[in-house]
Amino acid sequence: MDLELNPFKPGSGLRPPALEGRDKQIEAFDLLVARSKRRNYDRGMVLSGLRGVGKTTLLNTLAEHADREGWLTIGIEARPNAAGTAAVRAKLGQELTVGLRRYSRKHKIQKLIDPLIELARGFSLEIGLGPATVNVGTSQPAASSGDIDLDIEELVEAITAALKPRGSAFGLFIDEMQDLDADLLSALLTVQHRASQREWPFFLIGAGLPNLPAILAENRSYAERQFLYSTVGPLDRGAAADALRIPVRHHGGDFTDEALEVLVTASGGYPYFLQEYGKAIWNLAPEAPFQTEDAELAVEVGRRHLDEGFFPSRWNRATERERRYLTALAATGEDAPRSGKVAELMGVTVSGVSDVRETAIKKGLIWAPEHGRIAFTVPGMADFIRRQPAA
Ligand SMILES: Nc1ncnc2c1ncn2[C@@H]1O[C@H](COP(=O)(O)OP(=O)(O)OP(=O)(O)O)[C@@H](O)[C@H]1O
Ligand SMILES: [Mg+2]
Repeated sequence: MDLELNPFKPGSGLRPPALEGRDKQIEAFDLLVARSKRRNYDRGMVLSGLRGVGKTTLLNTLAEHADREGWLTIGIEARPNAAGTAAVRAKLGQELTVGLRRYSRKHKIQKLIDPLIELARGFSLEIGLGPATVNVGTSQPAASSGDIDLDIEELVEAITAALKPRGSAFGLFIDEMQDLDADLLSALLTVQHRASQREWPFFLIGAGLPNLPAILAENRSYAERQFLYSTVGPLDRGAAADALRIPVRHHGGDFTDEALEVLVTASGGYPYFLQEYGKAIWNLAPEAPFQTEDAELAVEVGRRHLDEGFFPSRWNRATERERRYLTALAATGEDAPRSGKVAELMGVTVSGVSDVRETAIKKGLIWAPEHGRIAFTVPGMADFIRRQPAA
């Protein structure tokens, strides 16, 4: 088929040609937005799931819906370690300023919003720069005390006070939320908590790895009640089939039922894999409708692409010791073995590898589905590791 027209998009957060299987989450969010217009404020939302399952795509879609309904929407992506912390704080300040400016122009309410832009600018000057730069001038601008809790609260209070009479709300969309630094996270959870008590229209909408709910609960015990939690999982067979078939039909093509079955099965319903296989079959099939042989070849080609991109991008982030741990985890042949079993295969005690286990969790390579158990965050990673020559 014509390569230029290929609609499939394997990648990070790329809008798929057909966003399938997420009606439940989208409806729940649309309801939250609709209720906010009537000043009925619900809890924020947290989406969690494995790598490549479509969290970013869904988060972006929710932000678009909110934006369309007149919310002020700000989006950031958290990053691990100290360098990430500073960058994310700087980005938050910057996005606030830019977002407010865009909002003010779009809704033609400069008078109302301009003072908030000043506030956000003071905030972004302070945030992430640390206490050393505080008190340079004689009069400290508002929301720039250098105390992140106070500054965020002041900012959110001022912004929501302007938005509430308009039936609008402030949505802060945070991707990779598990990587947010503990201080900023705690400040945000606190202000969300306060907001719901005082009926300020402020909503945190987060997306992250499966360990995100646990990280939130650890940071603030009330976080458990603060959000509507939703797992983003693989698509069921019907939705997976639609994710492939709808874009192809849109261009006048189609699959035989059997060809579609082959791709749906091979993908396990994982959105990233669906895009990869969809892209492959489009490129290699000589004509429509796509046949079983095309599908089988597409699985081979798609897998090779995954082995060259999706999996190595994770594998290459691991240190030598982490790789040994991951290899042992893959060798257990179980989805979520006991940590003890992994250590046993390595010929060491659990405490002997607890540090590697921790660093690999921080990097988002593995996670603990329940206490004492461990699993990959990337579907198919175990098979990939087992295919490696060194393993
Ligand atoms: N519901 C869906 N239907 C079809 N394709 C989808 C769907 N959601 C996401 N995709 C596609 O799957 C791929 C991965 O999506 P996305 O980057 O949102 O996943 P993610 O969960 O954020 O991954 P990561 O954890 O690596 O950040 C993209 O190519 C995207 O277009
Ligand atoms: Mg993502």
